[in-house]
Amino acid sequence: MSENKHTRRNFLKIAGGLIGLSAVGMWAELTKNQIDLLNKKTVTFPFNPNREISFTDEFIIKNSEGKVITYSAHCTHMGCIINKEINGKLICPCHGSEYNLNGIPVKGPAYKPLEKFKTTLSTDQKQVIIET
Ligand code: FES
Repeated sequence: MSENKHTRRNFLKIAGGLIGLSAVGMWAELTKNQIDLLNKKTVTFPFNPNREISFTDEFIIKNSEGKVITYSAHCTHMGCIINKEINGKLICPCHGSEYNLNGIPVKGPAYKPLEKFKTTLSTDQKQVIIET
């Protein structure tokens, strides 16, 4: 009888622990999703269909072959704002890194590609909508 009582007590302890761990895991996942939602924001800029490359405060908008793509204008070397395009290359003014128009570094010191953001056009095609 006493041994049986221990077994049941142990079972309840283990089951309680597992339920507790599951609850903590679910809470952590929910919290993470809420933080992601809070951090996610949408910004819009006027769309110029006649320009292949447009620079905004923090974004580089590429309009090519019917596709609009947005890259971060922050250089992946040390974060300077890239604000110039020369001969199909995006130039960082700080230390001279160069990226091709797909955001891939072609000259260092930067070696990581520019961050890319989901981009759509408004239904009237006058605004670029960027999800960060
Ligand atoms: S911050 Fe762009 S090259 Fe250094």
